[in-house]
Amino acid sequence: MKKIAVLTSGGDAPGMNAAVRAVVRTACENGLEVYGVIRGYNGLINGDFIKMDLRSVSDIINRGGTILYSARCKEFATEDGMRRAIRTCQEWGIEGVVVIGGDGSFRGARDLSERGIPCVGIPGTIDNDIACCDYTIGYDTCLNTIMELVDRIRDTTESHDRCSVIEVMGRHAGYLALNSGIACGATAILIPEVPFDIEKHVIERMKKTQRANKKHFIILAAEGVGVDVKALAAEIEAKTGVESRATVLGHTQRGGYPTAKDRIMATRMGNYAVKLLMQDIGNRVVACQKEEVLDYDIFEALNMQKSIDMNLYNVAHEVSI
Ligand code: F6P
Repeated sequence: MKKIAVLTSGGDAPGMNAAVRAVVRTACENGLEVYGVIRGYNGLINGDFIKMDLRSVSDIINRGGTILYSARCKEFATEDGMRRAIRTCQEWGIEGVVVIGGDGSFRGARDLSERGIPCVGIPGTIDNDIACCDYTIGYDTCLNTIMELVDRIRDTTESHDRCSVIEVMGRHAGYLALNSGIACGATAILIPEVPFDIEKHVIERMKKTQRANKKHFIILAAEGVGVDVKALAAEIEAKTGVESRATVLGHTQRGGYPTAKDRIMATRMGNYAVKLLMQDIGNRVVACQKEEVLDYDIFEALNMQKSIDMNLYNVAHEVSI
């Protein structure tokens, strides 16, 4: 394989730029031509490509977001969109594509691979919800950002003897909420993977800690549980007598300088992805397990299930009282 492309798709994640950099530099160093595709699969359909060289990825390892821009492309999910993308790749002589994104992006990569354009996926999402990986690019930065934001909220919560109900991202998954809940000492953590009852898991829990002299509380809710945090704060105030406030952290969680872990893993994964394409190996997802970089068949990866670590959940429950 001599000519490849790289794109970022779905929600941006800190560390995507480090992955793009590694893809471009590894390709250049090994004599491959490499193109950056602008705005994910939209760019693949419309031929929105930029020829990349060693210097096009200078000074981006430290930047959040993605210099290639990102999009969720509905057209690509249609037969016509897919056909146009394949035609564009053929016209440009693109022999393989590195797709950096979440599982939605991998489904696109799978479909392209099936139709003869070998793709390698790199997991880039703050949600950490890719089943074959115990870590995804952007997750570590996001977790640390949430921790910092909740620490700030905690200062004011403590000063006023209040309860703060905070919603964090994660789409359908609770990894961000569970781990940030542990890191921030949340009194209760609500995640989609574990059924809960507000009365038992929040109100009674708060009352129990009140009896042990606790005066301020952090309640973390993953967006995937679908709880209205404002309504929950009002219910808490009515039932416990603790003045309560609600905060939705929203997109503040998704930007910012990537952590060292995200930069290093993104660099390793980007390098690994190009090495696969150089051997004409496509239809793969680069994964990270226990700090090791490996790869899976893309179909297999998409059919795997990821479950929450219940031991971790129980630890959180036991120590946050
Ligand atoms: O997948 C990343 C993510 O930030 C999710 O946590 C969240 O549900 C979603 O994207 C938000 O998407 P958008 O930026 O399109 O509103």
